[in-house]
Amino acid sequence: MTAPMVIDCDPGPDDIAALILARQMRNMNVLAVTTVAGNCTVDVATRNTLALMDLLDWNIPVAAGASQPLTRPLRTAGDLFGDDGLLGVELSGTGASGTPSTRATDPRPAWDLVYDVARAAHQPIDIVTLGPLTNIATALAVHPDLPQYVERLVIMGGAFLAGNTTPAAEFNAFVDPEAAERVFSSGIPFWLCPLDVTHQGYITLRELQEVMDLESEPARIFAELLRRGYEDVKHYTGGLGVPLHDPLAVMYAADPSAFSSSECFIGCETQGSITAGMTITDRYSDAQLQPNGHLVETVDRTWFIAMIMDILARY
Ligand code: RIB
Ligand code: CA
Repeated sequence: MTAPMVIDCDPGPDDIAALILARQMRNMNVLAVTTVAGNCTVDVATRNTLALMDLLDWNIPVAAGASQPLTRPLRTAGDLFGDDGLLGVELSGTGASGTPSTRATDPRPAWDLVYDVARAAHQPIDIVTLGPLTNIATALAVHPDLPQYVERLVIMGGAFLAGNTTPAAEFNAFVDPEAAERVFSSGIPFWLCPLDVTHQGYITLRELQEVMDLESEPARIFAELLRRGYEDVKHYTGGLGVPLHDPLAVMYAADPSAFSSSECFIGCETQGSITAGMTITDRYSDAQLQPNGHLVETVDRTWFIAMIMDILARY
C-alpha cells in the first residue's frame, strides 16, 4: 500500500485517465483529489472531477484550488482539449454531460484540504501532481510547516529535450513556472516525470482498441479520451501512439520498479518570453548545483501497458 495520498489535477483527458487507473489500483491509498486551473478553468476541472467521482462511485473529498497561476494570467489548453477540457467526451452519470453532478466539493480550498489531510494522516503523505503546481506552491505559502507532513511529491511536468507548449517548456511548468520553482526549492523530496519519460509511455491505437474491447464504461472513457487526442499528439512519438503523461506519474507513484531515475538538481526558469517554464537539470556542469530532486528517466513500456490493461480489466 502506498502512503496516504492526495492527487492534484487539471482534468483534462489524461488526468481523467490517471484517476480511472488510481481508483482501481489495489495499493493506492488516495484520500482526496484537488483541482487546479490548467488544461481548463478550475471550475471546469472541478466539474469534470465530480462527474468522474459519480461514474466511479468514488466517495473521497474533492476540493477546488487555484483559478489563476501565482503571478501570471491563466493559459489553458482549450485550443487542444476544448472548453469542456475533455475533447467533447461526456462522462456518463450526472456529470459533464450537461447535468452537473449533485456531488458537493469540499468547502475548503485545495491548499487547506491538502494540509488538513496531511496533518491528520497517520504518516507523511504522498502528493501526486498532474497539473500546474499552483496549489502546492500556495499550500507552502499558507502553511509553511507543510513539508514535515509530506513524504514525497510525484510530479508530472517539465521537459529536458524539448517542450510541448514552447520549444523550451512543458505545459504544466509553462502555465506556472513560479509555482514550479517554489515547489522544486521547498525541500520536499520530489520525483519529476518529464515529457522525456512520458513520451516513452505511449499507448498505440491498437492497444486503445483492446481497452475499448474491455467493455466497461471507465475503460471506454479512458480509450475515447486518449483516442480523440491522437491526431494532435502523435508527432511526439513519431506516430507510434498517445503519450500517457498523467497515468505514468500515477503508475510511478504506485510502483517505481519498472522505471529508472536519478538524483540531481532540478530548477525551473521563470524569465524569458520563450524560456519561461523551461526545466533545468545539472548533470555535470562546473556549477555543480546541489541535487534537490529526482528525475524519472525511463519506463519499461511493455510493463506499463500491461499494468494498465490489468487495472482497467478490473472494472
Ligand atoms: O504537458 C502534459 C501535461 O499538461 C499533462 O498533465 C496534461 O494533462 C497537461 O496538464
Ligand atoms: Ca494534467
